[in-house]
Amino acid sequence: MHTRVLTGITTSGTPHLGNYAGAIRPAIQASEQPGVDAFFFLADYHALIKTTEDPARVARSRLEIAATWLAAGLDPERVTFYRQSDIPEIPELCWLLTCVTPKGLMNRAHAYKASVDQNTAKGVDPDDGISMGLFSYPVLMAADILLFNAHKVPVGRDQIQHLEMARDIAQRFNHIYGADYFVLPEVVIAEDVATLPGLDGRKMSKSYNNTIPLFEGGASALRAAVMRIVTDSRQPGEPKDAENSHLYTLYRAFAPADKSGAFRKALEDGMGWGDAKQALCELLEADLAQMRERYVELMGRPERIEDILMAGAEKARKLAIPFIARLRDAVGLRRLVAVKPAATGQGGKKAVARGPRFVSFRDESGSFRFRLLAADGEELLCSIPYADPKAAGAVMRRMQSEAVDLRDSTQQQGAAFVALLDGEEVAHGPHQADAAARDAAMARVRAALDALAQAMRDSAS
Ligand code: TRP
Repeated sequence: MHTRVLTGITTSGTPHLGNYAGAIRPAIQASEQPGVDAFFFLADYHALIKTTEDPARVARSRLEIAATWLAAGLDPERVTFYRQSDIPEIPELCWLLTCVTPKGLMNRAHAYKASVDQNTAKGVDPDDGISMGLFSYPVLMAADILLFNAHKVPVGRDQIQHLEMARDIAQRFNHIYGADYFVLPEVVIAEDVATLPGLDGRKMSKSYNNTIPLFEGGASALRAAVMRIVTDSRQPGEPKDAENSHLYTLYRAFAPADKSGAFRKALEDGMGWGDAKQALCELLEADLAQMRERYVELMGRPERIEDILMAGAEKARKLAIPFIARLRDAVGLRRLVAVKPAATGQGGKKAVARGPRFVSFRDESGSFRFRLLAADGEELLCSIPYADPKAAGAVMRRMQSEAVDLRDSTQQQGAAFVALLDGEEVAHGPHQADAAARDAAMARVRAALDALAQAMRDSAS
C-alpha cells in the first residue's frame, strides 16, 4: 500500500532560506522514502485571494517556486508535480464541496476571523476588503486534497484548522451521498523540522521582512544578508552564549552534528561574530552553490519548466478525470439516459426505479458468468467463467459490498480494464476506443457499484 502525501505551495513570494529548511528540503526527503506517492503542487489559485496581489508578481512567483523545487532536487518522474490551475477538476470539485459546506463552518476559519477582527478594530465594515476567495479558501484547499484522496498532508501549524475543515467537508459529502468517496486526510506537522530565525531573531518570514534569500541575488545577496544577522555586542575573545544566538540556530540547521558542536564550542571559546558569520556563509555556500547553479539554468529555460509542469498535470488528471466523473454521478449530474423514472406517488404503486443490476447467464461452453448492466442496459462488466453457479453468485454478491479494484489492462489494441477482488481478476470491461473512453467507462462501473451498495444498505435499514 502506498501512502499518498500531498502538499501545496502558495505562489505569492520568492523562496527564502526558511522555506527551504522548513518545507522544501523535508518534503523532497519525504518523497524519496519507499512507499510514498508524493503530490506537490503550486497553489496558484490560492495566490489570487488577495486583490492586492499583482499579476506580474504571481506569474514571477510561480516560475521561481517551480525552479526552486526542481533545483533543490525534486524528481518530477517520481513525484507528481503540477500547478493547481492546470487541473480543471479542482475548481469543479470545489463547487461540489461548496454546496455541502455549511457557511457557519467557514465563519469560524481563523484567517477570516482575523481579518474581521482587524476591520472591527479599525472601525470599518467587518467584511471590508474580504473577497469570497478568502472566505472560501478552506473549501478550495479541501478540493486540492480530496480530489487525490491524499492520506497525509504535511503543512505548517497555521494550516491545522484547514485540514480539520477538509476532513469535516469530506465526511459530510460521504454521508450525504452515501459512500466513502473521500479518504479522510491526516495533517502532518513536522516537529523535528527546522523553523529558522530571521535576521532579527523572529521566525524568518516575508511579512517580517527579515529573510535570507535562497537563490535570488546569488552568492552576494546571501552573504550580504548573513552579514546583517543581529548579534549581541560581545567582542572577539569574549565567550558567546551560542545556545541563545540565532546565528548558531541557523548554522545548526545546515551542519552535521559534529560540525555544529565544534562551531558551538568555538563561539563559547570566544570566536568573533565576524568570523562566525564567515563560517556560516561558507557552510551555506557548500550546501547551496550547486543548487543555485541549477536554479539559474532552469530560470533561463522556462519552457523546460512549463513542459515538466504540463506533464505533471497530465499525470494528475489521469486520476482526477475518472474520479470527478464518479462524483458527478454521485450528486446527480448524470447522463440523461441513466435517469430513473420518478415515483408516481398518490397511494398508487410506486414505479420501480431500475438501477444498475447484475444478471447471470451460461456462456456457450456451459460455464456460469454474470454481467453488470447500467441502468440504461449498457454492459459495464462481464465476469470470468465459473464452473459452479454458486461461486459466480458469491462473487457477484461480494462485488456489491466489498471494495472492487478497477485496473487499466490496456495492452496492444483498444483500451481495456479489469475488475479485481482481493487482487484477483473477476471481471473485465468491454474494449473501448481510447483511454478517455476507458476512464469514463471505469467511472460508470464505479457509479453502478456505488448505487448497488447504497441500495443494499437502504434495504438493510
Ligand atoms: N494553504 C496552504 C498554505 O498557505 C497552501 C495550500 C493550498 C495547501 N492548498 C493546499 C497545502 C493543499 C496543503 C494541501 O500553506
